[in-house]
Amino acid sequence: MTLSALNNLLDQRHSCRAFLSDPVPKDQINQILTSAARVPSWCNAQPWNVTITSGPETDKLRKALQDEVIADTPSPDLPFPASYSGIYQERRRECGWALYEAVGVERGDRAGSTRQMMENFALFGAPHCAIISSPTELGAYGAMDCGGFVTAFTLAAQALGIATIPQAAVASYGPFLHRYFNIPDDRLILCAISFGFADKDHPANGFRTSRAAPDAFVEWVD
Ligand SMILES: Cc1cc2nc3c(=O)[nH]c(=O)nc-3n(C[C@H](O)[C@H](O)[C@H](O)COP(=O)(O)O)c2cc1C
Repeated sequence: MTLSALNNLLDQRHSCRAFLSDPVPKDQINQILTSAARVPSWCNAQPWNVTITSGPETDKLRKALQDEVIADTPSPDLPFPASYSGIYQERRRECGWALYEAVGVERGDRAGSTRQMMENFALFGAPHCAIISSPTELGAYGAMDCGGFVTAFTLAAQALGIATIPQAAVASYGPFLHRYFNIPDDRLILCAISFGFADKDHPANGFRTSRAAPDAFVEWVD
């Protein structure tokens, strides 16, 4: 029973790339945060810190981010993956093409793919954006703990009918975000989570990604 409830949530959740403008009530945001914070972390350090925008502040951030992308070059606090090769590259391409197909961007349409990519910085129209940071001194393990927090955040939100999308793209403008939100330099900005209610009929929300079965990633030793 409990596993099927969890599986239901896992099945329903997907990365939402078009939101309605309706705000999420603050008590529901608090419920999501309270649930997400129950994930394990090394030494129970609970290294996550979350800066959340609402209402006109989210619109201000959207505008400032879009200006920043035009004015500056990406500089994430946490270096982005050096490359995706083999199966990882295949999966990356598959989900990219699924998105482009859903929104009608054809192969070779550079302007169309750039337009869709820029939606990241419009926060896909979400009414809220959460910026997730971790203390630099905790290094990769702080980031790992925050990864668990991000996942639990998306699932707790889903349980309340609230859609989410984790976004590394937003974190690619690290120095800007530190300045804009006064986030101290001894913290690493890891990603954002844009969230709100899904625009269910929008084509960008009209596809789902697949997952490999355990056979593809497990080595049994028995
Ligand atoms: C840490 C992290 C960063 C992500 N960054 C982005 C992003 O910048 N832009 C985007 O459109 N999706 C982003 N995603 C969403 C992934 O593309 C998505 O989770 C993946 O394709 C699987 O699809 P699903 O979430 O719909 O199941 C990110 C996901 C994670 C976990």
